[in-house]
Amino acid sequence: MKITIIGTGYVGLVTGACLAELGNDVFCLDVDQKKIDLLNNGGIPIHEPGLEEIVARNRAAGRLQFSTDVAASVAHGCLQFIAVGTPPDEDGSADLQYVLAAAKNIGKHMTEFKVIVDKSTVPVGTADRVKAAVQAELAARGDASKFSVVSNPEFLKEGAAVEDFMRPDRIVIGYDGTPEGEKAHGLMKKLYTPFNRNHERTFWMDVRSAEFTKYAANAMLATRISFMNELANLADQVGADIEAVRHGIGSDPRIGHSFLYAGAGYGGSCFPKDVQALERTARQYDQDLLILRAVEAVNDKQKLVLGQKVVKRFGDDLRGKHFAIWGLAFKPNTDDMREAPARVLIKQLLDGGATVAVYDPVAMTEAKRVLALDLSAEEMARIRFATSPMDTLAAAEALVIVTEWKAFRSPDFDRIKSSLKQAIIFDGRNLFEPEVMAEAGFEYHGIGRSILTRV
Ligand SMILES: NC(=O)c1ccc[n+]([C@@H]2O[C@H](COP(=O)([O-])OP(=O)(O)OC[C@H]3O[C@@H](n4cnc5c(N)ncnc54)[C@H](O)[C@@H]3O)[C@@H](O)[C@H]2O)c1
Repeated sequence: MKITIIGTGYVGLVTGACLAELGNDVFCLDVDQKKIDLLNNGGIPIHEPGLEEIVARNRAAGRLQFSTDVAASVAHGCLQFIAVGTPPDEDGSADLQYVLAAAKNIGKHMTEFKVIVDKSTVPVGTADRVKAAVQAELAARGDASKFSVVSNPEFLKEGAAVEDFMRPDRIVIGYDGTPEGEKAHGLMKKLYTPFNRNHERTFWMDVRSAEFTKYAANAMLATRISFMNELANLADQVGADIEAVRHGIGSDPRIGHSFLYAGAGYGGSCFPKDVQALERTARQYDQDLLILRAVEAVNDKQKLVLGQKVVKRFGDDLRGKHFAIWGLAFKPNTDDMREAPARVLIKQLLDGGATVAVYDPVAMTEAKRVLALDLSAEEMARIRFATSPMDTLAAAEALVIVTEWKAFRSPDFDRIKSSLKQAIIFDGRNLFEPEVMAEAGFEYHGIGRSILTRV
């Protein structure tokens, strides 16, 4: 099938590459000329396991092209996927300017039937706004071409995006019962047939429910994280081990083991903005989503917890003190630094007067870019970007771990101990066992792991 993907970011590039891999003829459009040039020169703008090979293979086969040519992109696909960003507006609502700009472009150039697929995460009712934007452009040109807007939210996880796209838990598609909607239904069904071979994974529903499902999913996941983080802080007070508690409750199938990890708070481009946007939608309907307000407040507080543990141990005045930081990206296997807890921690330590040496397996370039936006030149000068985990340790009072990269899970503890000034680890992801760390001679600070009585 001929498909256009508008927006070549995490979602658009993965969607385009994976649909090309299945044999479709895919045209990827972006307004960012640099990104398109990089892709056309064989580069990849993001770190995503497995993606580079798929892009290279399908470009070489002529099934995947990248361009900034809007007219050509509209002409190409009968299916037009909108996968542009929906960042938070100042009031927390989703900023739809990119989605609506993409819709207008389609309306401006289309001359035949199109299915417009909202893949971006957009608030309930956005499909109607997309429809109105396209219709206005068609009317302005006196073009009577028909179209349908469907909602097909994306559930992939950064760091496992290719795998998630290729083996989805579910495919959610919202369409309407108009003749155009029925035609769109048929085309979407055909497109996703290869994903449903093993068993049917597609949930067909009305458009608004599909839009809502994406927010509900992210809100639920964020709720689990904040719930565990809040309990972890209490566990620290009462002398219980949140990891033992996690196993104890996760074994109940009604609760399950996934997404119950206490840590340094959630970040990234989705949970923070989607929780806020859902709250904002509710407020437009005079409803206050009390649970989500708490989820967000707990998360904001949680991002401060690691830094507060450092201050509790070393005092408010961190001048003359140096710290090693492992992990900058908001989670492993990505270079995404959006809303990353490491940004909050680094600012806290620098505010206290400390210097830091930082390392991340893939996010170093992106970290330099975003930290330069967060911090002053003087603050930036107090950060050393190290070349390896071990390279961060010299002269550091302690090691602080913020992201649970696999490479950090079984480090050479003897070397860490001999490199640090003091054998102290603040573990924002509970990678290690307190007993093992104590035996190895470390002073260990996890999240919710201040057990009073060891077994
Ligand atoms: N990143 C994720 O893990 C993830 C997962 C599921 C859903 N989503 C949702 O998918 C959407 C996209 O997220 P992302 O992380 O891929 O964003 P991104 O910022 O990585 O990419 C968006 C791209 O769209 C381009 N763009 C903006 N306006 C355009 C226009 N008018 N025409 C063509 N291109 C345009 C930008 O230049 C950018 O390259 C968001 O709504 C997000 O919430 C993201």
